Amino acid sequence: MIAAKNNKLFIGEVAASDLARKFGTPLYVYDEETMRSKVSALVQNIAYRPLRIFYAAKANTNLSVLKIIRDEGKGVVGIDAVSPGEIEIALKAGFKPGQVIFTSTSVTDDEMKFAISRKVLVNCDSLSQLERYGRLNPNSKVCFRVNPDVGAGHHGHVITGGPESKFGIWAADVGKAFGIAAKYNLRIVGIHEHIGSGILETDKFLAAMKVLLSIIEKNKSKLTDLEFVDFGGGIGVPYRPDQKPIDFVRFGAAVSRLFESFCSSFGKKMSLIIEPGRFLVAESGVLLCTVNTVKQTPKHKFVGVDTGFHHLIRPMAYGSYHPIVVVDRCTSEKTEKVAVCGNICESGDVFTRDEHGIVDRELPQIKEGDVLAILVAGAYGFSMSSNYNTRPRPAEMLVKGREVKVVRKQEDLSHVVYGM
Ligand SMILES: Cc1ncc(COP(=O)(O)O)c(C=O)c1O
Repeated sequence: MIAAKNNKLFIGEVAASDLARKFGTPLYVYDEETMRSKVSALVQNIAYRPLRIFYAAKANTNLSVLKIIRDEGKGVVGIDAVSPGEIEIALKAGFKPGQVIFTSTSVTDDEMKFAISRKVLVNCDSLSQLERYGRLNPNSKVCFRVNPDVGAGHHGHVITGGPESKFGIWAADVGKAFGIAAKYNLRIVGIHEHIGSGILETDKFLAAMKVLLSIIEKNKSKLTDLEFVDFGGGIGVPYRPDQKPIDFVRFGAAVSRLFESFCSSFGKKMSLIIEPGRFLVAESGVLLCTVNTVKQTPKHKFVGVDTGFHHLIRPMAYGSYHPIVVVDRCTSEKTEKVAVCGNICESGDVFTRDEHGIVDRELPQIKEGDVLAILVAGAYGFSMSSNYNTRPRPAEMLVKGREVKVVRKQEDLSHVVYGM
């Protein structure tokens, strides 16, 4: 659990300030118990069986994280991989090839050959990819992604259904996909959609499920080999104090009911697949950083820290909100409005912002040397990090109760200075 005890932030049973003191900052820290609780919440609340949960590894590909998810998933959990690298790391984490699906976009033949060589099912994103896949691997199983013309998500960049989205085979073109599959004797074992990311309104997810199921129903005669329907990921988590978590008892029941009744009218019991990324890891992660500068302009009091958008790009990329706490006084009577900014040489490098610019945040009075924790940073945090400004990436740590383990070493200058 990540929570305040006696006004200090604890990750598991370890004080965040102790981690910062011992390992330095910036530092990514993940709480194993939180991660496990998210996996089991999904497995338990979606009663439909056979159920498969393909963790969208892009959210966090740390090998130890993947191993925890595999272990807690007990055979139900597999991996949604979007690149040869993600396929390789999934296999390294112990997932079997049959537990991995390769769902990428703008895919090269070499990437498909790689997936085929690893015996991983390819989920085709376009008619042209399906054609090329048929040529490369005729007489095999395949899945394809449909753009159901329904999209949702926390930001335009992550809405992946509808005419503005580059993803999937447009619903009206699905008939052409059957023609290609027949030409190469491909058995269509799966149909997939993914409408977007960060969805808290489960009605949208259920509506998109219904659209995909109606497409499948209309094309029933062409889908005699169908083994599963994959409804993608996108399950949101609360970042802002006013956002509520999804009610998984209701959501799980609704998803199960819908698919159960579809399968009985379709006349075949198929696997239900969902592909959560963020949901499984976001709340288990924090990014610790130290305040090194406090300065005032006529408009803002800037609190400068030793990390930036090269380590957590979500605020800069989407205007995303992340809760921030001062680790040794999570609440205080004495507060002030500040802008928490990073160490990257761009004015947009501010953690307390929305899409339009800086939004000051009410925090306990901050001084140089204070350690801050940027919360809900376990998904799309480290995995989207870079070496921009020729800066090394931080270490990643895993906490299990009192145990603390380095699960990725901090980079140093040898990682960023080419030829060193
Ligand atoms: C195909 C696919 N599945 C699943 C996901 C996971 O989304 P989320 O992390 O919002 O659950 C993504 C995210 O981009 C995706 O592209």
